Amino acid sequence: MTTEESAGRQRQNVIYRDGVFGRRPKVPTDFESLERAAKKKMSAAAWAYVHGGAGSGRTVQANRDAFDRWQIVPRVLRDVSKRDLGVELFGKRLPSPLLLAPVGAAELAGPGADVAIASAAAELGVPYIFSNQGSAPMEESAAAMGDSPRWFQLYWSTEDDLVDSLLERAENMGADAVVVTLDTTMLGWRPEDLNLGSLPFAQGKGIAQYTSDPVFMRIVRERIAAALPKPDTEVTLGAVRALISMTSRFPGRFLDNLRSPEPRAAVETFLDIYSRPSLGWADLESVRERTSLPVLLKGVLHPDDARRAVDIGMNGIVVSNHGGRQVDGGVSSLDALNDIAPAVKGAVPIVLDSGIRGGADVFKALALGADAVTLGRPHLYGLALAGGEGVRDVTANVIAEFDLTMGLSGLASVAEITRDALRRA
Ligand code: GLV
Repeated sequence: MTTEESAGRQRQNVIYRDGVFGRRPKVPTDFESLERAAKKKMSAAAWAYVHGGAGSGRTVQANRDAFDRWQIVPRVLRDVSKRDLGVELFGKRLPSPLLLAPVGAAELAGPGADVAIASAAAELGVPYIFSNQGSAPMEESAAAMGDSPRWFQLYWSTEDDLVDSLLERAENMGADAVVVTLDTTMLGWRPEDLNLGSLPFAQGKGIAQYTSDPVFMRIVRERIAAALPKPDTEVTLGAVRALISMTSRFPGRFLDNLRSPEPRAAVETFLDIYSRPSLGWADLESVRERTSLPVLLKGVLHPDDARRAVDIGMNGIVVSNHGGRQVDGGVSSLDALNDIAPAVKGAVPIVLDSGIRGGADVFKALALGADAVTLGRPHLYGLALAGGEGVRDVTANVIAEFDLTMGLSGLASVAEITRDALRRA
């Protein structure tokens, strides 16, 4: 967006004008207050899933610490009266280098989840990467976005037919790109969830892309016919609650579903087949025959893997450690970016995921070679606090802060943000 009144000034004006009438912003404008407020609002299980990281949480912390090791060195007396935050990705002009990250089981943070997030993203023209572990079928989220850009995140199932079906649906619902997530072939060791014994998928949350998929449901029915999985006969209050949760989320009428083995078999099937731990480079090479959409590999942290992704014709890389949720004691995403960007040397776009909390983080990631970044937990916290409006405001705040950071650093466009703007702390 190039405007006389920039994104940053616009957002400040809205907030300060409301303040004159005694109204406070719906969502806090800094990450720490946002997180604190969201924690108060969310259930223990929702908080554990969204906030939690792998093991001791060191990778989550490392993602933040890495940003602190770089400082911005502003320049003065440059004309920054007109600024352009826009970037081009896969043939589309985007208003800013920010995308909303895929987050599974978003319904934990608030009703309407994926569709509310999709509408909020569309209001700002910000692309939303639909989660493969979404709480709404991708077609429903897409319908809330008009022509606004959306991408699809793919987990590579053990069933190739399901992969093809999801990719076909992604093309049909107007995805601009597919992000294949490689770092979650198994769930990481997540004590916050484990200590509650809480896995949203086991309650039927976050499996809507699957229960709305004809190939997935064919597999479920085949497994039921083959008497797989074996029913577990222990009846506890928790088990009844889980059954109600699964049944109410399953497509169709609740009472019909209650009598059907399908909702429960769908959960078990999902847990068995959603991801393929044996996934290898050869599988990825076949993706070209499976879809005409641009494909980005997500979860890349080593320069050799990044080079190989480029060599096999991938269209982009998402440098990510899955928000620190997979490997404890892992490299921070920003340090990985710093190693990968020179290795890839502009061959394909690089998106930085994991650790972005505010506008200065966006700036630093771009300075270290990212073409765009994704925002994850903060938008979920916005959803928890104020629904779709919360998502919109959190996202607009980050863009506003980025705009002001860029301008106040003496730079008028994203292309001008280079490594020269930073020094090691
Ligand atoms: C799934 O993607 C998760 O991080 O839980």
